[in-house]
Amino acid sequence: MAELTYRCPLQCPYCSNPLDIANYGAELDTEHWLSVLTQARELGAAQLGFSGGEPLVRKDLEVLVESARSLGFYSNLITSGVGLSDQRVGALREAGLDHIQVSFQSSDSELNALLSGSHKAFEHKLAMARSVKAHGYPMVLNFVLHRHNIDQVDKILELCAQLNADYVELANTQYHGWALKNREALMPSEEQLGRAEAVTNAYRKQHGEAMKIYFVIPDYYEQRPKPCMNGWASMFLTVAPDGAALPCHSARDLPIAFPNVRDTPVRDIWYHSEPFNAYRGNDWMQEPCRSCPEKDIDFGGCRCQAYLLTGDARNADPVCDKSPHRERIDEALLQANHYRQEPSPMLFRNMANSRDLISSDT
Ligand code: FES
Repeated sequence: MAELTYRCPLQCPYCSNPLDIANYGAELDTEHWLSVLTQARELGAAQLGFSGGEPLVRKDLEVLVESARSLGFYSNLITSGVGLSDQRVGALREAGLDHIQVSFQSSDSELNALLSGSHKAFEHKLAMARSVKAHGYPMVLNFVLHRHNIDQVDKILELCAQLNADYVELANTQYHGWALKNREALMPSEEQLGRAEAVTNAYRKQHGEAMKIYFVIPDYYEQRPKPCMNGWASMFLTVAPDGAALPCHSARDLPIAFPNVRDTPVRDIWYHSEPFNAYRGNDWMQEPCRSCPEKDIDFGGCRCQAYLLTGDARNADPVCDKSPHRERIDEALLQANHYRQEPSPMLFRNMANSRDLISSDT
């Protein structure tokens, strides 16, 4: 995953970027990125995601896409669509981009504007989704679900059908980064979740598989943790905008000094660096994971979530009902299922708020 930049014209409160985005100044330049892509491909990486922030703010995106194609990557652009134009979709197609995923905040312009901080974004996203399809790409739409939009799932699916979407991801928020900060405001109630799932299943039943719908539930409502990243540093490498190499996009939340591609070859980072080896395999596990018969299925869950909610990344992910820290999850669920008269306030993801958080921490 090439996180090209933390810059973004939108300010979604559920962004998975770290809270201290304002701390990371200089982005890797084009030459650095080309070298990272070449090294990663030599190591055997086959799929490449361009993400951010908003990757379209990088003027060299087309150059990077062209290089990805010539190296033999299957490449995917994960974008809000803001910064895209019909002409740019054509240029990216020409450069060899394989896949584009456009994200929406909501099925209506008002909520879209409230969540993204842009009044123009919704109409533009619609136009860009159509443009992506017109250039011969499959239409892949992503909606991050939470308390404020989950009751719109029927409208969201209607909109996707109108746009002739091929794939729709209804991904409930995962609570890292800004989303964790805003958890109280974002976590849906069990009732909301049940309704949204039922609506999705009814839609599938009525309309068949022509539009493929993925419904991802928030892991807080599970009893077992997700096999996050398929295990720490087993198949996934993120390079952050400043060159930090991470085993997952949220790993910056951990108190670990990660290596940087500016001064360490990607091969050394992957095979030999301490952070990448910290939670590989099973040796780092403590009880109850160590003796758990499911440890090779879920790998103890998510290291970032374990650290963020228990203070120790070696603990079992507290989503697991065998975890002695499961009450951290249950408390959040209790709060989410409490009737409230007023919605909880949200902290929007932008550089000014990030600077405030950093200065209040120091
Ligand atoms: Fe980092 Fe799960 S998000 S290991």
